[in-house]
Amino acid sequence: MRFITLEGIEGSGKTTQIQHVLEHLSHQGHKCMLTREPGGTKIGEKIRAILLDGKNHDLVPVAELLLYMADRAQHLSNVVKPGLAAGKTVICDRYFDATLVYQGYARGLSVDLINNLHSLVFDDFKPDLTLLLDLSPELGLKRAWNAIDAGDRVSHETRFESEKLDFHRKVREGYLALAALEPERFRIIDASRCETDVRQDILRNLTP
Ligand code: TMP
Repeated sequence: MRFITLEGIEGSGKTTQIQHVLEHLSHQGHKCMLTREPGGTKIGEKIRAILLDGKNHDLVPVAELLLYMADRAQHLSNVVKPGLAAGKTVICDRYFDATLVYQGYARGLSVDLINNLHSLVFDDFKPDLTLLLDLSPELGLKRAWNAIDAGDRVSHETRFESEKLDFHRKVREGYLALAALEPERFRIIDASRCETDVRQDILRNLTP
């Protein structure tokens, strides 16, 4: 029973690699479930649609933060906590670290405010292990837009991909700063390599 999260900038390959994590751990006999933020619940899907709609240019940063937290409240109580209580390994595509880096480091809201809200509302509930798929924003954005253009990803979920390169640089730097603060929880994976190499590295890092 573990709570494992995958994090990384746009185009880091999380969504592909998370399937490998699921297969590997299930094969080892762990009862697993795969989920994501935002959008891991029915209500969360609706919140996700607001958050990622490329037409919502005027969403103010605090509203954005509170929507991510609303999604998380629903997700923790409906999915993550019941899953862990049932003895499952919960594997989640993004979680609280994404809020710290996207809304804090990149969008400019106070990181202390975000940490305080997380402590107050969610009792500072953190993953046991976080795999950070790290690569340059130039390469990540190239991959993300290729996936959108090829129809592999939902084409209207582009609000973050449309941000300037500087925003994504801050996201990457934010993630690396968080990893340096909590080295026992984070594993940094070089995600600029091919899918197979990244997969092998991730699987090596799953051993507690
Ligand atoms: P996804 O594309 O990995 O599904 O993530 C959706 C987007 O939401 C991604 O651009 C990162 C962003 N995000 C935040 O800004 N804050 C958060 O707390 C989370 C979970 C995601």
